Amino acid sequence: MRIGLITGGGDCAGLNAAIRAVVKHGTSSGHSIVGFRNGWKGVAEGDVLHLSRSDVRNVLPLGGTVLGTARFHPHREDGGVEAVQATLEQERVEALICIGGDGTLHAASKVAESGVKVVGIPKTIDNDVWGTDKSIGFDTAVHVATEAVDRLHTTAESHNRVMVVEVMGRDAGWIAVHAGIAGGAEIMLAPEHPFDIEAVTRALRHRHRAHASFSIVVVAEGAVPAQDTAMHYTTERDELGQIVAGATAERVAGEIAERTGFETRVTVLGHIQRGGTPLPSDRVLASRFGHAAIEALNHGHSEVMTAVRGEHVELVPLREVAGKLKTVPQELLTAARALA
Ligand code: F6P
Repeated sequence: MRIGLITGGGDCAGLNAAIRAVVKHGTSSGHSIVGFRNGWKGVAEGDVLHLSRSDVRNVLPLGGTVLGTARFHPHREDGGVEAVQATLEQERVEALICIGGDGTLHAASKVAESGVKVVGIPKTIDNDVWGTDKSIGFDTAVHVATEAVDRLHTTAESHNRVMVVEVMGRDAGWIAVHAGIAGGAEIMLAPEHPFDIEAVTRALRHRHRAHASFSIVVVAEGAVPAQDTAMHYTTERDELGQIVAGATAERVAGEIAERTGFETRVTVLGHIQRGGTPLPSDRVLASRFGHAAIEALNHGHSEVMTAVRGEHVELVPLREVAGKLKTVPQELLTAARALA
């Protein structure tokens, strides 16, 4: 078969490991692999490149994606799905492997409705793709964020400050909770649990009275105050609807400073969490997903997504995944508060 391959949405560490696995196992299985540049945009525009084993040599430790990516969803563009179909017919592509987050995978399920064979691979540092324990990029993002929190401890303690660290996570606080627990943060604010700024400042005042002169507060960019609490804040977004980096952390830091009198500073990790070389765990997960995607096509599957559940890589129906979010469970949020 001629199999198409795209990486869509926000990039992350590990994408090239997945691309490498698709090309290696795909060519070993007798298929030819056709890459499209910049996600669904490249499919719609016919921006194609043939991928051979030599093209994926030495890409395992490489961050980002050699195919490029973009935030483009064909089903949201006039004639977008038709343009995708036309390109796939013209390039004689019989199946498409889509490496992406909720947006890209939702688009894949829409394109599949038009009869194209599709297999999805979950990637996003937010780890909020439903149906899989892990998405490509999450582990590396947590590592980067944890390393930052570790570093901020020394400067916070030296200056007796409250350091507010903003991590990515539009709709789910997986990075905030994991990096907060791993880094020993006092407070972790996640979108799943709207916070009460007075409870936050009470906890900080208690800590600074009792046994410390500094604190670390990790805030997911999508965290919001609870209704009917003292802080009124709606997530600040730009004209494209993207969250304005740093807006949430700056507001939280301002409220803490005003209510406690403690000196506060803000660190916004932003795209550092998405860049750089993938951890071995992301390289392995991505390689397993790439292999499983080819195996799925070898066995005649379509409209499925590779997923890891415990130690096993499985296939889940795309229609069960599309449009859903995997949020941090209450048990983990409770544990995070207890361990703070
Ligand atoms: O891919 C997810 C994500 O990293 C979010 O955590 C973040 O809000 C968003 O992408 C940033 O998007 P962009 O790279 O388009 O600014």
